[in-house]
Amino acid sequence: MEDFIISHPDKPSDPELILKIKELARKKNAIILAHYYQVAEIQDIADFVGDSLQLSQQAGSTNADIIVFAGVHFMAETAKILSPGKKVLLPDLEAGCSLADSCPPEAFKRFIEAHPGHKVISYINCSAAVKTMSDVICTSSNAKMIVDSFKVDEKLIFAPDKNLGGYINSITGRTMVLWDGSCHVHNQLSDEKVIKLKIENPDAKLIAHPECRGPVLALADFIGSTAAMLEFTKTDKSLRYIVATEGGIIHQMKKSSPAKEFIVVPSDETCSCNDCPFMKMNTVQKLYECLKNETPEILLDQQVIENARKPILKMLEISKAANLIK
Ligand code: 13P
Ligand code: SF4
Repeated sequence: MEDFIISHPDKPSDPELILKIKELARKKNAIILAHYYQVAEIQDIADFVGDSLQLSQQAGSTNADIIVFAGVHFMAETAKILSPGKKVLLPDLEAGCSLADSCPPEAFKRFIEAHPGHKVISYINCSAAVKTMSDVICTSSNAKMIVDSFKVDEKLIFAPDKNLGGYINSITGRTMVLWDGSCHVHNQLSDEKVIKLKIENPDAKLIAHPECRGPVLALADFIGSTAAMLEFTKTDKSLRYIVATEGGIIHQMKKSSPAKEFIVVPSDETCSCNDCPFMKMNTVQKLYECLKNETPEILLDQQVIENARKPILKMLEISKAANLIK
C-alpha cells in the first residue's frame, strides 16, 4: 500500500539507550508491553511480549503505575479501559490500525440499527467507541470460543474483520452478519503467492493468521493467532514453515526454534508488504522519549471507559473460564 510509510531502524540501537529505557522503567515502576509485530529490538526490551489477548490480560492485571504499550492505538486504548487508574503511554500516537479504521463508529451504529435483534461481537481491533456498541469483544485466539458462547440460533453481527468473521462462520456453520472491514496487511497476502511458495517448498507447512483472506486460509495447515502460530512452530515436527502474517512474529519463532526455517509471505525481499506500517512506527528512540517525558498519553472519556469495559471483561471472563488465560 503506497499510502503507508514504514520507518524501520536499519542500525541496531545504541545499547546505552536500551539500558536507559530499562532504568527509567524501573525507577518509574513502568511495565513495557509489546505486541509480536513490533521490531525485534522492542520485543527484546519489553517486560512482556504477546498477542492481543495476552496483552489485554497483562494490562488489566499489572501492578505497575505506568503501562508503555509498544503496539498500536486500539491496544493502548484497551489497556486504558482495563486499567483506567494507570498512565498508559503509546510511543507514537499515530500508530493506528487500518482494520480499526475500516469501522467508523457512526456508520457502525447505523449498521447495528439496520439489524435489529442481533447481538454484536467485535474483534478487539476496533475503536473504543465501537467497543461501547458491542456485547462482547474477541481476539483471534478466542473468536470461536466467544461465538460458541451464544445460542446456535442467536442472530449475530461480527465486526470489523470480514475475513476472521467469514472463517468463524465456515468452521461453526453460523451465518453471522459481517461488517465489511479488513486489515490491509493480511488482506493483501495472496493465494497466488502462497501457492507459488508451496510449490517451491513442498516440505514446508503453511501457517496463517485468520485475518488473511479465505482462499489463503483454505490452503493453510494451521490457522491461529500470533501466539497460537508461535506455539505451533514450537511443538510441531516440521522444520520449515511458510508464515502468512505480519513479519514481526518471525523474531520469536526464530528465537524459540533456531534450527527451523521460516519463509514469510511474500518471500520477495524487495517488498516489505507484510510489515504493518503502524506497528513499525514505534522505534526504540520513541520508546525512550515516551517513557522519559510520559507522553503521548492515552486519555479517554470516563463514560466511554465504563461502557467499553463491559464487553472486554466479558471476553476475559470467558477466556479465563476456558483456561486460555490465567
Ligand atoms: P493477534 O495478536 O490476536 O494475533 O492479532 C494480530 C493483530 O492483527 C494485531 O493487530
Ligand atoms: Fe491493524 Fe493489520 Fe496492523 Fe494488526 S497488522 S495493527 S490489524 S493494520
